[in-house]
Amino acid sequence: MSVNVVDDTRKVTTHRLYEMKQRNEKISMLTAYDYTLAGIVDEAGIDVILVGDSASNVVAGNVTTLPITLDQMIFLGKSVVKAVKRALVVVDLPFGTYQGNSKEALASAVRVMKETHADAIKVEGGAEIKESVERILSAGIPVMGHLGLTPQAINKFGTYVVRAREEAEAQKLVEDAHLLESLGCFGIVLEKIPALLATQVARELTIPLISIGAGGGVDGQVLVMHDMLGMTQGFSPRFLRRYADLHNVITDAVKHYVADVKSGDFPNAEEQY
Ligand code: KIV
Repeated sequence: MSVNVVDDTRKVTTHRLYEMKQRNEKISMLTAYDYTLAGIVDEAGIDVILVGDSASNVVAGNVTTLPITLDQMIFLGKSVVKAVKRALVVVDLPFGTYQGNSKEALASAVRVMKETHADAIKVEGGAEIKESVERILSAGIPVMGHLGLTPQAINKFGTYVVRAREEAEAQKLVEDAHLLESLGCFGIVLEKIPALLATQVARELTIPLISIGAGGGVDGQVLVMHDMLGMTQGFSPRFLRRYADLHNVITDAVKHYVADVKSGDFPNAEEQY
């Protein structure tokens, strides 16, 4: 089945995301980490491509997002940007490159923008990273926020359960979202929080709020590409919808190839010089 929902080929900008929210047009966002898949995702009409630090998990095989480095994120970001014509490309600043010191945060963001040619960066957290966000924005670099379950703080949380169920944490999330908007962030990812809370925040803010596990009452959705294409296994949170079963498709293809090589069926007479 082929579904074609995007006929606007103009480059997506932060301003266009804001306009999409104003006219109630949902924003589609997906992660990508390499040239080939980013090109496919872009041509298929995605609005925003996130070069997520989830690459630490699905590309590098780490248990958390913490080990991935700025150099590694820049390598991935460069590869993605080269393939993308339409989507807005956002690159995650990795753990340890922006939290402690706003000058270091700016230096990290400048490296990403200069070396990858991406359109924006994303950082996790609210009031605790206020100065870093301010300084990055002061250099004219678009910043996307990320609240709720922020994977770079997983060792503090100690669990991947839904965040902000308790009143105090929900209240802080609302305040952080307002703060990020007032500082000038162009959008915020809300991860794994109650849908009612996410909907309330989306109504209060004028910038787009993008959900991963935060329900359908916000302005758009993001998923990790390897999860939605069914390449990863053993990860089935309630919010994840799988649109393909590439794990089985790839396994079958590789098994077929192995059998053909072993039997001498590949290459045949037409497949050689
Ligand atoms: O790194 C990532 O893939 C993300 C998404 C979960 C939003 O931050």
